[in-house]
Amino acid sequence: MNERIHRDPLERSDMQGNSRTVTDCRLPGRPERVDIAIEAGVITSITPAGSTPPSGPVLDAAGALVTPPYVEPHIHLDTALTAGQPRWNVSGTLWEGIERWSERKAVLTREDVLARAEEVLRWQVANGVLHVRSHCDVTDPELTALHALVELRERVRDVLDLQVVAFPQEGIVSFPDGERLMARAVDAGADVLGAIPHFEDTREDGVRSLQIVFELAERHGLLVDVHCDEIDDEQSRFVEVVATLAHRTGLGRRVTASHTTAMGSYNGAYSRKLRRIVARSGIHLVCNPMVNLTLQGRFDDYPKRRGLTQVKEMLAAGVNVAFGHDDVMDPWFPLGTANPIQVAHAGILAAQLSGQDEMDEVFAMVTERAARVLDLGERYGLAVGRPADFLLLPADSPFDVLRRQVRPTRVISRGRVVAETPATPTRLTWPGRAPEDVDFVRR
Ligand code: FE2
Repeated sequence: MNERIHRDPLERSDMQGNSRTVTDCRLPGRPERVDIAIEAGVITSITPAGSTPPSGPVLDAAGALVTPPYVEPHIHLDTALTAGQPRWNVSGTLWEGIERWSERKAVLTREDVLARAEEVLRWQVANGVLHVRSHCDVTDPELTALHALVELRERVRDVLDLQVVAFPQEGIVSFPDGERLMARAVDAGADVLGAIPHFEDTREDGVRSLQIVFELAERHGLLVDVHCDEIDDEQSRFVEVVATLAHRTGLGRRVTASHTTAMGSYNGAYSRKLRRIVARSGIHLVCNPMVNLTLQGRFDDYPKRRGLTQVKEMLAAGVNVAFGHDDVMDPWFPLGTANPIQVAHAGILAAQLSGQDEMDEVFAMVTERAARVLDLGERYGLAVGRPADFLLLPADSPFDVLRRQVRPTRVISRGRVVAETPATPTRLTWPGRAPEDVDFVRR
């Protein structure tokens, strides 16, 4: 990759202590340019460009589009960069992925997890991601990966926020000692509690696993994010259980149902009922379009289902939906660059969100809507008093970012530049014209 990430701690502390101003910024949907003043890593003013003398060193954005950073609501850092180890997933199914991962999990070490997870976090920061929710498999008596990710969370805290989900990949009720492992994961520092009800042995085990997780979440004041109905089975209906528990416990917006691919197979009557229950509960949904387009429909002949969350319909029902990357080069998905704009682009195709208003919503699904999933509250957004976290993008609008999949030229975290990517044009030689530098996909 072409970027530089500044990691010098002295530079970090110097920059945080100083005031500085980022001038000539363009905000989405606003014609006038603005200057953003920063003090000690916090936004202190947003004023019309040139209207106020800049304080401290100046970074000239030169009319770049400025947006809040990307938020990754769903990734698996513990499994990342293990594709082909020890063997490739030949069938391409989710189930063989779990078998391959189970083999790789047996030889995990702290150093192994730290190295792979940190590498992907570096890619994420380079791509403009400053808030990450990572699931972490806790169906491991040693909790090796969980301990490593909690350690990493503290180490990277000055650059980005990392939330760690205790994710029971092989079940809670159906896995030996599964309930106790979840409790141990809480003690070890997990931020969020996961579950995988459709993988449990029976429907009843799945419901019981959700009850266990909600009781733990209430007792410890934790968030909930369930891998829910990631199967092409119209009989898999655990979203209704998650939403109802969230409603009755009052946990509501602190709860997320991820994947929810069985929704792609539900009939119209049940879908209508489900949208009402989900909207009432306030829970969030996370759709992972790249991975689930790849994994789902593997047992179908033709017609072959897409197997995705009902994104368009849930948005219309008032439900908060975000897009996640999910896997990066692991037993379930061999590709991935940890770039949310690639995910969002895939989401437009997969969920048929090609209307102009819908594409603005898609940009929100990897920024503001994803921030709501992580419950970031006032720690997120371009506003006075909030952390000076934002991106400088060489684009005209969020739509332009999505269409051309441009990467940020600068990523600013707590007021300091943590990643720079030169926007390099293409030298084009064309009949009848002298060789010229063009940004050839820009209109
Ligand atoms: Fe996942």
